[in-house]
Amino acid sequence: MGKFIINGQKPLGGQIRVGGAKNAALKIIPASLLSEQAITIDNLPDIEDTKRCLEIVEALGGTASYREGQCQIETKTLATTRIPADLANKLRASIMFVGPILARTGQVSFPHPGGCVIGAGTRPIDLFLEGFQALGAKINFANGYYELTAKKLTGAEYFFTTVSVTGTEALMMTATLANGRTTLKNCAMEPEIVALADYLNNQGAKIEGAGTPIITIDGVDKINGGAFTVIPDRIETGTFAMLAAASQSELLITDCCPEHIEILLNIFRKQGVNFEQGENWLKMLPSKKIEAYSIKTHEYPGFPTDLQSPYTVLMTQAHGSSIIHETIYDRRLLFTDMLTQMGANIIMCDPHRVVVNGPTPLHGRKLTSPDLRAGIAMVMAALIAQGKTEIDNIYQIERGYENIAERLKLIGADIERVE
Ligand code: EPU
Repeated sequence: MGKFIINGQKPLGGQIRVGGAKNAALKIIPASLLSEQAITIDNLPDIEDTKRCLEIVEALGGTASYREGQCQIETKTLATTRIPADLANKLRASIMFVGPILARTGQVSFPHPGGCVIGAGTRPIDLFLEGFQALGAKINFANGYYELTAKKLTGAEYFFTTVSVTGTEALMMTATLANGRTTLKNCAMEPEIVALADYLNNQGAKIEGAGTPIITIDGVDKINGGAFTVIPDRIETGTFAMLAAASQSELLITDCCPEHIEILLNIFRKQGVNFEQGENWLKMLPSKKIEAYSIKTHEYPGFPTDLQSPYTVLMTQAHGSSIIHETIYDRRLLFTDMLTQMGANIIMCDPHRVVVNGPTPLHGRKLTSPDLRAGIAMVMAALIAQGKTEIDNIYQIERGYENIAERLKLIGADIERVE
């Protein structure tokens, strides 16, 4: 298994390009199954999670060819409607295939999906199952697989009692081929949902309201194939911006969409973090002093839980005390223990809240990446720490960040990936 060896405190600077959004890519690949026609996806990030998704397409009988950020998927015929357990266990987004397969063929079977361990127990899928049922699916559970059947899905009203990003996307996709109108209420509003709806509408779907809490979908007979360009990864954008801020670097972040991290940029302004922004770039500039500022994670456009861990690292370098309140997942603050081992002054109040007192120097150590976002936060901490840090279990980081060591090297980092 690979690990990163990082020697910290090297001057960082220059230019870094943001890749396609993981959490948009992981939905467009399954969405391709809504159509028998081929789809071309541009700006697809070359990360472990997209590779697993393309493997699922192939396991179902489709073809997927990937080359330099562009991918062609064709699923004219499906050999099976069962999502294999070995792939489903590796990523939660495997559940995104369920709705399209069900809507297209009237049946699907799948095991409980795996993925990052960031919530208590296995992350639930009750909202998906309830939503599919509302659209007319019958559900049976046998031999470790959920089996869903529906002769023809029928439009319905469904209210999300918990706001769910993938839940919203799953039901939105599924309802495109149902009979009649579906109304989804209390939907998530993330930019990746809007991008997915735009794509589906271009291919014949009738979706209104994506990006607001109420989405209506009028079912159609057919979704066409077509082309989709994956939107820039807002989490990567925010992470690079915070790395620059924490290391007092001048860094130009290109091919991004600063509008998608408006909350972070507004917090930067309050903290005295210097930056300039354009429509698709962000220029981070060294700041005299960064003030601590408390955050609470929230659905979009609130503070993204996926940026909480790098933000916590940034707060170790800010002046004063901040409370980091993680409202969405109850295991996403456990990594702060490793920051404490590096020299941070962090007090855990309960699984959802920590107090960070800064600034404190950090020191390199041996670490293990527990999950994707905590993993990149550790890379960030290692880059600003004194001395050498070794991070193992980096599959967790490579699930979501393309070629990260090479890209960080290009901006001056001393980071090696070793087997
Ligand atoms: N939830 C339920 N029942 C369900 C589904 C979700 O109770 O059936 C709960 C979850 O346990 C959680 C809350 O709803 O407490 C919100 O979870 P949500 O469903 O929104 O999360 P998700 O859709 O599984 C996506 C991203 C996550 C990101 C969250 C929140 C993808 C593939 N994943 O997850 O991304 O943290 O939204 O923004 O889009 C990551 O990229 O590292 C990552 C974990």
